[in-house]
Amino acid sequence: MTSSETNPAGRTAKPPAPPPGGGPEQHLGTPAWELLLPAASAPARARGRSLQAALREAVRSGRLTPGTRLPSSRDLAADLGVSRGLITEAYEQLTAEGYLRSGRGAGTWVGGAVRAARPRAHDLAPRSTDARADFVPGTPDVSLFPRAAWAAAQRGVLAELPHHELGYPDPRGLPRLRTALAELLARRRGVVADPERIVVVSGVSQATAVLGFVLHARGIREVGVEDPGSPQHDALYAAAGVSTVPLPMDDEGLLIGPLRESGVRSVVTTPAHQFPTGIAYSARRRTELLDWARSVDGFVLEDDYDGDFRYDRAPVGALQGLDPERVAYAGSVSKSLAPGLRLGWLLVPEPLAEEVVERKRTMDLGHPTLDQALFARFLERGDYDRQLRRCQRAYRERRDALVGALAEDFPGSEVTGIAAGLHVIAALPERYGPQERFLARVAAAGVAVRPLTDYTHARAGDSGRPGVRLVLGYAHLSPSRIRAGVRLMAEAVAGRPG
Ligand SMILES: Cc1ncc(COP(=O)(O)O)c(C=O)c1O
Repeated sequence: MTSSETNPAGRTAKPPAPPPGGGPEQHLGTPAWELLLPAASAPARARGRSLQAALREAVRSGRLTPGTRLPSSRDLAADLGVSRGLITEAYEQLTAEGYLRSGRGAGTWVGGAVRAARPRAHDLAPRSTDARADFVPGTPDVSLFPRAAWAAAQRGVLAELPHHELGYPDPRGLPRLRTALAELLARRRGVVADPERIVVVSGVSQATAVLGFVLHARGIREVGVEDPGSPQHDALYAAAGVSTVPLPMDDEGLLIGPLRESGVRSVVTTPAHQFPTGIAYSARRRTELLDWARSVDGFVLEDDYDGDFRYDRAPVGALQGLDPERVAYAGSVSKSLAPGLRLGWLLVPEPLAEEVVERKRTMDLGHPTLDQALFARFLERGDYDRQLRRCQRAYRERRDALVGALAEDFPGSEVTGIAAGLHVIAALPERYGPQERFLARVAAAGVAVRPLTDYTHARAGDSGRPGVRLVLGYAHLSPSRIRAGVRLMAEAVAGRPG
């Protein structure tokens, strides 16, 4: 217990009574009135609320620690030049909320219930890159977002949406959207699309997590993933308590021998355009994969993250169309409209349907209805098809620009994978290696790139290779920026090949 107390004006007061309920008693380190001065000079209408907010923040941030005695309302009002009523009201409000405690006639104290938020260990938002050229894959061109058509759909929805559709939604999604999605996916991706078995989700990521939780509840603790593959899959299954088993691939898809030997009964795959190698599963491997799933009574999650974009022919239909009871199919608008919309779909095999819907319900009670109604309208009016065509044209042109620039500035390099999606794999000739040195040089020149080894589980085995293999995202860059970026990379390593 302290022997004296400094009041807000810095005057020394008599030793205070012990805080009600006990607890350590402290000085006011920083005079409280200083913390509150800006709030006290707020416009009269907002002054009371501002004072309360400032006091709350001072307690929350730890600047006023538990046990600290606050000045009397009369003193504080005089020091701040505000009415005593405002201070009394603030004390009463914060006492009711648990920030302060007051004892009859014993004054007002900072309560012990509040805990300061921990400092952030890391920023949760993705880092924005200040690279001079950024080839990191995964991002579409969000500047192609059809703002005018979206705004028109939004106005239409707000004008027409029946009141009852603003209530809690069916956790599967609005029937109107599921019907429109069924039509789209059957037509464009060859899926067997029953609107009753579609669940509107916030993206392939949520579809993967939901499925992970459902498999976990069924006692499944391991799921196979492609190696190389998307780190997203590992992270999402891990969050559901399911570990991932990396499985080797060749240029036809997952190798069935190692898949059988692994003992897993579920796998996640990207058959239309494997991430990141860019191969498409062969017809033979698709059949073998489904034979395997039936033989172990298992499931395949088909991640169709960029299956809409194919530049040399019509996209190959989804695996799900071959066996809708073994394959759960997931897709989203992240590559065609914008990842920030967080809107996707999961088509569920019948045996998992009820559990998936229940899991979605417990996660968030269903997807936001206004967004769903808007997207339904967007689909029905042909706006989404128009957008896909627009992206297809832009991305094809960008891919061509990248392939051309690589041929010009890195002669002898090989672009592998099918002409599809939003990225390519570029294998540069051995003379540009070793990879570590190449990466250090282009990074120093301000070019952001990812090597293929970033996506392999068996990284150690790859690191000694002389060649350089890059996963280059191009969809978010204009052709001229692509050419400039490749030139920048070439200059960074020019005249200094390994
Ligand atoms: C292979 C793959 N699957 C899924 C996702 C995540 O998709 P969504 O935004 O639909 O959750 C990504 C994101 O880039 C991806 O690359």
